[in-house]
Amino acid sequence: MAEREREHGRGFQLLCPQGHKPTSGLGRGNLLATKKLEDLLAIARVPPADNQMECHPAGWQQARLRKLCESKNVHLSAYSPLGGSNVLTNPVGTTVAEKLGKTTPAQVALRWGLQMGQSVLPKSTRESRIKENFDIFDWSIPEELFAKFSDIEQASTHFVFEVPCN
Ligand SMILES: NC(=O)c1ccc[n+]([C@@H]2O[C@H](COP(=O)([O-])OP(=O)(O)OC[C@H]3O[C@@H](n4cnc5c(N)ncnc54)[C@H](OP(=O)(O)O)[C@@H]3O)[C@@H](O)[C@H]2O)c1
Repeated sequence: MAEREREHGRGFQLLCPQGHKPTSGLGRGNLLATKKLEDLLAIARVPPADNQMECHPAGWQQARLRKLCESKNVHLSAYSPLGGSNVLTNPVGTTVAEKLGKTTPAQVALRWGLQMGQSVLPKSTRESRIKENFDIFDWSIPEELFAKFSDIEQASTHFVFEVPCN
């Protein structure tokens, strides 16, 4: 493990009073791919509570990292949950949105994230879209449509970069 990851691990421990579990905010800013997270968990006395990563149905469903996070009780927060808008043109998203009578596939992508058990962090500069993006809590994608998201081809390359804790 690189010295940088060791420093992160030590940083988590210094930031938390002894015996206290960190709040979700402490995990933020650390973009940990599976190997990095495994390495950190191997040495951390205080494990991260949250792992913020790019996650959206159209290419970055993050199955492997999600499984590890679930098994270690690390919450997953999805940044770019619309894939910087890639999701909006994906045929699965558009079909599901149409079938459910939703205004935009963006809502379906965000709801997919919630149903996967993660937090979603969409960004919009437009008030109407911000409202649309909030309108995802009182309905759900039924199982048969939800399953269609597994058919979307996923990216095969992993880019790993990290932002140190402040
Ligand atoms: N931790 C990290 O390393 C990290 C890395 C990347 C991003 N982030 C954070 O994650 C958040 C989101 O990331 P992001 O901006 O890359 O991706 P995103 O939220 O997946 O996509 C944003 C794009 O989608 C459009 N959009 C938003 N809602 C829409 C809707 N309902 N219908 C149609 N288009 C919609 C936005 O355009 P308009 O603004 O024109 O509506 C914008 O072009 C940001 O707050 C960002 O700072 C964190």
